[in-house]
Amino acid sequence: MRIYVLGAGSIGSLFGALLARAGNDVTLIGREPQVRAINEKGLRVSGAEEFTVHPKASLYAPEEPPDLLILATKSYSTKAALECARKCLGPDTWILSVQNGLGNEELALKETPNVMGGVTTNGAMLVEWGHVRWTGRGVTVIGKYPTGHDPFVDDVAEVFRDAGLEVSVSDNIIGWKWAKAIVNSVINGLGTVLGVKNGVLKDDPYLEGVSVDIAREGCLVAQQLGIEFEMHPLELLWDTIERTRENYNSTLQDIMRGKRTEVDYIHGKIVEYAQSVGLEAPRNELLWGLIKAKENLNKRDGET
Ligand SMILES: NC(=O)c1ccc[n+]([C@@H]2O[C@H](COP(=O)([O-])OP(=O)(O)OC[C@H]3O[C@@H](n4cnc5c(N)ncnc54)[C@H](OP(=O)(O)O)[C@@H]3O)[C@@H](O)[C@H]2O)c1
Repeated sequence: MRIYVLGAGSIGSLFGALLARAGNDVTLIGREPQVRAINEKGLRVSGAEEFTVHPKASLYAPEEPPDLLILATKSYSTKAALECARKCLGPDTWILSVQNGLGNEELALKETPNVMGGVTTNGAMLVEWGHVRWTGRGVTVIGKYPTGHDPFVDDVAEVFRDAGLEVSVSDNIIGWKWAKAIVNSVINGLGTVLGVKNGVLKDDPYLEGVSVDIAREGCLVAQQLGIEFEMHPLELLWDTIERTRENYNSTLQDIMRGKRTEVDYIHGKIVEYAQSVGLEAPRNELLWGLIKAKENLNKRDGET
């Protein structure tokens, strides 16, 4: 399968490396130092597996249309990334977002009706240019977005499985995207504001109650939008916290590194969707505002 990975960062490099190792025609589209490193010495994977592959790497999408374009930028980069990649999209090209947050697939749908959503619990971290660590094996769910089925989704699932990824196909991927966003609204929201590891949210009785309230707020919005869950977000929440209890969430890690976070696409989108159905989402609005303030404080610290 000809596959372009748009955003050769942590998760994009991991997926790209696995898919290239399995013999797919993979091009990683990324920033200059990553592209140079991959072209000069290949792409190394360490952690859950150890190997080096030599996929193509480029600053821009090649002109020839791929079968599959994997969107793996942060959510705040999606719009610009899709604009750059627009020229390579053919009538049969599918776009798959493996990103967290809400709204990425909607942007992709402006480019083509062939859109898949994805959620993944695999963990990846770019250690240095050309070297990605597979920090934890996980599962990936993919499906035609927002709902339904297409035989090409099964083909992609098979290609991913051949590459060593655990994958399942869902006819209700929008339900999974929302469930994950609701889980992230709790873990990333509270964990970042309090500066704690994920496990604390389950161990402290006050935080357990607050977590449930935040999750219920998101569930209510989803319900009003007619979204159904295959796994209830609360069940997914406790399961995720248990599996990642020693981790700091990705938003807190971004704050610690002075980077922009994805909260506009987690809490911000939940607030936006709430308003669209005449609801309010005050808990999400508060967490969103607090984390945006943390981003701003970081920026000011960087300026002094
Ligand atoms: N890492 C994980 O373990 C993991 C797991 C599950 C889901 N996710 C989700 O996957 C998404 C990506 O996360 P990540 O951790 O892989 O982020 P990341 O390490 O920051 O990787 C994204 C990469 O895409 C690059 N990029 C952005 N716009 C581009 C463009 N137009 N052309 C080429 N490259 C571009 C970024 O460069 P700049 O930084 O210079 O913009 C960055 O190198 C997020 O939504 C995240 O929540 C991540």
